[in-house]
Amino acid sequence: MKSLKHLTVIVIILLGGWACQEREHHDTNSEVEDKVAQLLSEMTLDEKIGQMSQVDPGVFGGLENLKKVVRNGQLGSVLNLIGAKEVNELQRVAIEESRLGIPLIIGRDVIHGYRTIFPIPLGMAASWNEDLVRESAAIAAKEAASMGINWTFAPMIDVSRDPRWGRIAESAGEDPLLNSMVARAMVQGYQGDDLSDPLTIAACAKHFVGYGAAEGGRDYNTTVISDLQLHNVYLPPFKEAVKAGAATVMTAFNEINGIPASGHQRNIREILKDDYGFDGFVVSDWASIQEMIPHGFARDLKHAGELGLAAGVDMEMSSRSYNDHLKELLDEGKVKMEWIDDAVARILRIKFRMGLFDNPYVDESLADSLLVHPQHLEIARKLAEESVVMLKNENNVLPLKKGTKVALIGPLADQPYEQLGTWIFDGDENDSQTVLEAFNEFNGSENVSFAEGLEYSRDKSTNGFAQVEKAIAQSDVVVAVVGEEAILSGEAKSLAELDFVGAQAELLELAASKGKPVVMVVMSGRPAGLYKTQHLASSILYAWHPGTMAGPALANLIFGETAPVGKLPVTFPKGEGQVPVYYAHKMSGRPADASTWTHIDDIPVQAVQHSLGNTNHTLDYGFTPLYPFGFGLSYTSFEYSDLRLSSEAVSEGENLMVTATISNTGDVEGTEIVQLYTRDLVASYTRPVRELKNYQRVTLAPGESKEVSFELEARQLGFYHPDGKFVVEPGQFHVWVAPNAAEGLQAEFELK
Ligand code: NOJ
Repeated sequence: MKSLKHLTVIVIILLGGWACQEREHHDTNSEVEDKVAQLLSEMTLDEKIGQMSQVDPGVFGGLENLKKVVRNGQLGSVLNLIGAKEVNELQRVAIEESRLGIPLIIGRDVIHGYRTIFPIPLGMAASWNEDLVRESAAIAAKEAASMGINWTFAPMIDVSRDPRWGRIAESAGEDPLLNSMVARAMVQGYQGDDLSDPLTIAACAKHFVGYGAAEGGRDYNTTVISDLQLHNVYLPPFKEAVKAGAATVMTAFNEINGIPASGHQRNIREILKDDYGFDGFVVSDWASIQEMIPHGFARDLKHAGELGLAAGVDMEMSSRSYNDHLKELLDEGKVKMEWIDDAVARILRIKFRMGLFDNPYVDESLADSLLVHPQHLEIARKLAEESVVMLKNENNVLPLKKGTKVALIGPLADQPYEQLGTWIFDGDENDSQTVLEAFNEFNGSENVSFAEGLEYSRDKSTNGFAQVEKAIAQSDVVVAVVGEEAILSGEAKSLAELDFVGAQAELLELAASKGKPVVMVVMSGRPAGLYKTQHLASSILYAWHPGTMAGPALANLIFGETAPVGKLPVTFPKGEGQVPVYYAHKMSGRPADASTWTHIDDIPVQAVQHSLGNTNHTLDYGFTPLYPFGFGLSYTSFEYSDLRLSSEAVSEGENLMVTATISNTGDVEGTEIVQLYTRDLVASYTRPVRELKNYQRVTLAPGESKEVSFELEARQLGFYHPDGKFVVEPGQFHVWVAPNAAEGLQAEFELK
């Protein structure tokens, strides 16, 4: 039956029928619950504790030793076991040789693709394209599943407001709504609508919670988050992930207000499990239970295990406090048997839902037909195209005409590995198509003079600059692909300074000095510091780390086969000293505007203390960021007009229609991401100056206009009090239909 099933899967794949695989009978919830209860009643305490442990094979010095532990029923999960054959081998021991035959769940970080690498999640978020994000996760799931992986540690949905933090690359940026979109899309993509389908994998929403608020942007750092922020900013994406059916949730490394996230009883047991009704299981981050010792929260490993279980962490990743101490803790009455039973029931529930008991093995031949399939590359290209944000296009330098003589320079123009970005354990640079390759193919190699100038982004040697000058001399336009290498963002890759590393600023200066238009393409895992260099380019395409298909995506954009649609998922600061800077900030009692700010260079010597505006700004950077959240240009221009509301007042339970006309005022077709923001003017707790409530894509031919309407529910105007209670308060609201968080048409209405 099994091989027949896999044959069916392959045939369907060959026919291109990706979505419609053979469905087997899968258990209903009550059947699953009966099976969980039955199995639990047969388990010894040791077997239960085994289910609650997850290790990397390295811990036991390889597969053979691992088999012994699995045979004894002392392990519930393995992470980073590579290869379908190896997974089957170990799974066979669990199924056939352990007393109860409970399958293992096999975890791996599949973060933005498995072999086919999509843009980093921050780039995906810049597409604001839920369908494509979902599709990319579904592809990642298929590829990973074909290698025996049945659980990914994604999506990462930590609201991230600090570009110094290297893990901003893995997030959907600064906004709760956009992170919620990615949460939903990825959970649905990885898990499909049937977790027992052999080509879906379990998702893991992480890192619960507040990890993105690391002080100073330094990874693993302390966070101080008010309950108001926790409920309104950091928790909503997790609530959405739970609603979308996320099978698992991972706790974070950080402490929040003095309590480590992996020992946080209120957050895990009360909010996640009780209030949100999460019935999957919670896994710790790598040794984050043990790390409660250096945090100064646990005395020793035993105490850490006690705190982790009390808090509601069901499975321990990597460290061994549960394995080594739970029995003893139970004997001493420090942990409750019902906590252990609940944790094991949750783990078994997910294993049953995944169909692992009925279908524990992977077809070892599946990967050949699935990995980097052309259809996967096609979606990777599309998503890479849509993730690119055009920040600037003076004199409409872009798009270039095909056949233009181009000097292609910069350390990232032909770096198949670097363009993939962080967290690509299973990506292969040999699959990558670089900008140079795509330019040669698209524009004709005779029209491309390539000189990278710097060997890698941190290169400080200017030895290659002479070649760059030659290339520019033979060309009409310069395309400079700059930014940061993959290793400079991601986990533990925080930076204190955001400006371009190495001699890239000098390279851009050289390019700009030749009097030819410069197009800057930035590949980066974070918002780079562009303040000091952006004037050197006429056009800027912000490409993040675009993945396997970076080259074709950028060539299509640069030569106008398609137009940019991406919008920033995060505010770009003028410099790191302006951080934190995000659009949904609170209004100061002394808000700044142009009339109250004097630039530092214009302040008269010995000016009297109060002769300058006493408002909320800095003397050097003023009060606006470099680029606002939601910003992004296209090859055409859009005009927003005629904002109208269905009513000037709405009551709870009613909806307000907010409509505006969007016109394409340029010469080419374009797609605009139209954004809806609101502000609650007076509330029992102050509310942000703007909050994103919704968005829509509209594609317009030159000269065409369309009405874009948003239905705003009164409920969307509510917020959480610090105790987690959701309130909708009457009063006046502002509403904007806008191209970004700093502009737009504004109206006012009353919520009765
Ligand atoms: C640590 C990271 O914080 C987490 O995101 C990842 O999933 C685990 N390691 C497993 O690799």
